[in-house]
Amino acid sequence: MKTFVIGIGGVTNGGKTTLAKNLQKHLPNCSVISQDDFFKPEAEIETDENGFLQYDVLEALNMEKMMSAISCWVENPGLSVGPAALGSPEGIPILIIEGFLLFNYKPLDTMWNRSYFLTIPYEECKRRRSTRVYEPPDPPGYFDGHVWPMYLKHRQEMKDITWEIVYLDGTKSEEDLFAQVYEDIIQELEKQNGLQ
Ligand SMILES: Nc1ncnc2c1ncn2[C@@H]1O[C@H](COP(=O)(O)OP(=O)(O)OP(=O)(O)O)[C@@H](O)[C@H]1O
Ligand SMILES: [Mg+2]
Repeated sequence: MKTFVIGIGGVTNGGKTTLAKNLQKHLPNCSVISQDDFFKPEAEIETDENGFLQYDVLEALNMEKMMSAISCWVENPGLSVGPAALGSPEGIPILIIEGFLLFNYKPLDTMWNRSYFLTIPYEECKRRRSTRVYEPPDPPGYFDGHVWPMYLKHRQEMKDITWEIVYLDGTKSEEDLFAQVYEDIIQELEKQNGLQ
């Protein structure tokens, strides 16, 4: 069965989960897998010399489990949206995978039909992050001592990527981002369907 897999990567608090949920509401037969759901338990997270838990690295994630969830969807695309969607004339099953470390994880490289990456400037990122409560909560100095440096490192690694990534300005409104990406997805789906 033909499928269409979308990656939404980007900086922490860039608006990945918000955008993915907005798209899911408007795209038929669309499932979402969030990388946020695959963090290892706190006891398995490494600590650096400053005592900061090393959450913003691939090793903090159970990527094998996430890959299993993706494989499950690929084998039975559309199943997670309920039996009513199966065999409906609503077009090919769409999977959105959203998370902060997608395009640095090699086993996913061949997965993407379309890749997006949300960015926001340092100040805005720090401001948005300070309004959220994570589990465990960010200790003082965590953003500058771990979160942002790891983001810069991962951005550096992304320089080697060979496929197209559509960079999105995460300071745009939720509505504008949705409209921009929705339109782009529809165009890409039409291309895949050979209608253009
Ligand atoms: N376009 C936007 N403009 C302003 N604020 C936004 C926008 N999109 C999301 N937000 C806000 O920014 C915060 C982070 O949003 P969201 O959870 O979608 O980001 P994320 O990239 O998934 O973050 P995380 O790194 O925690 O997974 C939330 O408080 C959300 O309300
Ligand atoms: Mg999120």
